[in-house]
Amino acid sequence: MAYKKSLGKTILLLTGILIISFSYAWAIAGKDPNTIKNDSRSDRDKLTTKKVTAKHYSDSEGDKPAEKVYKNIKVFKGLPASRLIPTMRFIEASLGANCRSCHVYDKTKGWEFDSDKKSGKKKARKMIEMMNDINKHHFMGHQEVTCFTCHHGNLNPETVPALLKLPLKREDRNEKDITVPNRLNTVGEIIAKYIKAIGGKEAFQKITSLTFEGTTLNEDGKETPITIYQKAPDKILTVGQNHWGEYSRGFNGEVGWFKSGQRQDEIKGDDLNLLKDAAQFYRDISFDKDFTNLRFSDVVIVDKDTAYEVKGSLSQYLSYKLYFDVNSGLLIRKIQYNQTPLGNIQVQTDYNDYKNVDGVLIPFTVHTAGYDFNQTMNFNKISANAEIADNKFDMPSK
Ligand code: HEC
Ligand code: HEC
Repeated sequence: MAYKKSLGKTILLLTGILIISFSYAWAIAGKDPNTIKNDSRSDRDKLTTKKVTAKHYSDSEGDKPAEKVYKNIKVFKGLPASRLIPTMRFIEASLGANCRSCHVYDKTKGWEFDSDKKSGKKKARKMIEMMNDINKHHFMGHQEVTCFTCHHGNLNPETVPALLKLPLKREDRNEKDITVPNRLNTVGEIIAKYIKAIGGKEAFQKITSLTFEGTTLNEDGKETPITIYQKAPDKILTVGQNHWGEYSRGFNGEVGWFKSGQRQDEIKGDDLNLLKDAAQFYRDISFDKDFTNLRFSDVVIVDKDTAYEVKGSLSQYLSYKLYFDVNSGLLIRKIQYNQTPLGNIQVQTDYNDYKNVDGVLIPFTVHTAGYDFNQTMNFNKISANAEIADNKFDMPSK
């Protein structure tokens, strides 16, 4: 109990935070509360969707070493506190585990993350040391081997090669076989072609708000209505439906929040950064300004299309791969990498069905997948420049 109290500032967030937004072709996803897993993970959902923390530190503590903010840090000494939860999510994703596989949850006291009672936690510490050792001694310190390399989503790694699985649809890099007429050679040219393809900077700047109306189709086959409001330069509100009814998530340029049924929380830490990023209205015409180290890396096949692969970083921990169709110039795929000391967590977004809205092209179908969700948004109507009051994006008073 004392521990819980000492975390007075702790904000319990739904881990099911979906951070989806559009600045035109630009959408980012975190996790969607709509995405309720049935099968074997239902236990986890009971806990995580209601209770699990996304954050245990205040914003001023985010940069402090983890051991100064948390109680029982042994292997992650020196890691900025704000990176601890993303790191836990990486472990979750790699092992197909859940917080409760390694941490004690007490019905009355709640989570006791600092406790070392569970063997999984102790084992995980050893594994982290082993992995760091392998990379240091056998791969010149490069992060070649991660938890996922061995675990592949299982708590107990397979020892027998698997039966044939359908291949994942990833990029094909067999560049020799790809011929691109009028091939572009610099990232500047690729971005310029993209901006021209979606209608040009001027047409873009004439738009100051967008309303997206449509449906979300989840991996469980459930289709629910969704509306997204966006206002320049950085406001966003998503209203959708999850297991418990209507939910909304907003960012008013300063404060991020999530509301589902009776529950309402401020969004902070890593999730707030993702939300801020998603709220950038003019991202599509400010790539070169927003990204650092933007570079053209490869020509690859994305499904059936040929695309230029561009890499860049938005911040110290967030990097991207962007795929622009070599013919149309349009952005067809984006992969976001959230870096942790153990490896990256990725979220992939595919854009399709671009249509003209007031002089700019916007994708009407957006497919987003992360390690624990997979959904497609289909918009039947996207309208520009509707009057949207600023306070629509504010956190509702309780
Ligand atoms: C496979 C095991 C494993 C899983 C799964 C896991 N963790 Fe951890 N967690 C650890 C280990 C190991 C540490 C201690 C790290 C260290 O010693 O530096 C830790 C530490 C923590 C701490 C710091 C506690 C303190 O005060 O010292 C928090 C908070 C935490 N985890 C949250 C989570 C959350 C939330 C999840 C689910 C998203 C999760 N963990 C999933 C293994 C795990
Ligand atoms: C080189 C391969 C390899 C890597 C890399 C690896 N593991 Fe493991 N891990 C194993 C094997 C094999 C087992 C099962 C045998 C055992 O339990 O000793 C295991 C077991 C575990 C278990 C116990 C599972 C249970 O049944 O309770 C945990 C927890 C775990 N690993 C966490 C991690 C984490 C976290 C990482 C990344 C930091 C990681 N492992 C990286 C090979 C690996």
